[in-house]
Amino acid sequence: MTTDHSLLAEELTLGYGDRDVIHSLDLAVPPGRITAIVGANACGKSTLLRAMSRLLAPRGGRVLLDGREVHRLPPKKVARTLGLLPQAPIAPEGITVSDLVGRGRHPHQRMLTRWSAGDDQAVADALEATGTAELADRPVDELSGGQRQRVWIAMALAQQTDLLLLDEPTTFLDVSHQVEVLDLLTDLNGSRGTTIVLVLHDLNLAARYADHLIALASGRLHAAGPPEQVITAETVRAVFGIRSRVITDPVSGTPLMLPIGRHHDAARAV
Ligand SMILES: Nc1ncnc2c1ncn2[C@@H]1O[C@H](COP(=O)(O)OP(=O)(O)OP(=O)(O)O)[C@@H](O)[C@H]1O
Ligand SMILES: [Mg+2]
Repeated sequence: MTTDHSLLAEELTLGYGDRDVIHSLDLAVPPGRITAIVGANACGKSTLLRAMSRLLAPRGGRVLLDGREVHRLPPKKVARTLGLLPQAPIAPEGITVSDLVGRGRHPHQRMLTRWSAGDDQAVADALEATGTAELADRPVDELSGGQRQRVWIAMALAQQTDLLLLDEPTTFLDVSHQVEVLDLLTDLNGSRGTTIVLVLHDLNLAARYADHLIALASGRLHAAGPPEQVITAETVRAVFGIRSRVITDPVSGTPLMLPIGRHHDAARAV
């Protein structure tokens, strides 16, 4: 079994109602690597992730998973290869943490087979990896935002897919848990070769953790490549409409973007 799956968008157009949100987008997700998608609010990041994971049908073009149109593949087959953690997932009312994480195992269960020891192990591993084991019996509704976010990440991990798409997985997390989640995804990428695609708003963490960055602006590809190529003051201005300075991160050697608002000295800004 190979973990290197190809995931491509070709001339992909997506939208809602009478409005297109993604316009004839071409992109390739590098197999076995970590890709971060960055871009302003409402530029189409979540829409793109939904289409790549088969939840939203294209208006034009296609998403190809291992050379086959993802929207023509059976949902369960896709779910065994590719997992999505949406931006704002909704838990069934009253569900406990362990039951929610267990739902990540559904794509692996056949019609008549029951829950197996392998499923138990996958759930236990996911709880352990996300530091949520002590929450296992708690109702998800009663958790803090950050605890809940880690539980959803556990569910995505329990699915044990070779491709994992995460829409803002660090939202709601304090700085230590942000770093922990990104370290965990990096471990997963290193140990299992899991291809990871994540939407991140923190450009500096994106630059540290991603091998490949995709910068979207108004539903179009503005730049794609290694962080050093993508995180520039020009890109930040084009994508986010603000001035900035980009220096070298003293910890990681990757680009570090310092935004410049109206109240700070812009004399040295680009
Ligand atoms: N279900 C929907 N119905 C109609 N319009 C939608 C729907 N979902 C998203 N949109 C619109 O599509 C555009 C792109 O939304 P999307 O959620 O993909 O943005 P995003 O880049 O993920 O933004 P954010 O950073 O705020 O999460 C927005 O204008 C949004 O209002
Ligand atoms: Mg979004």
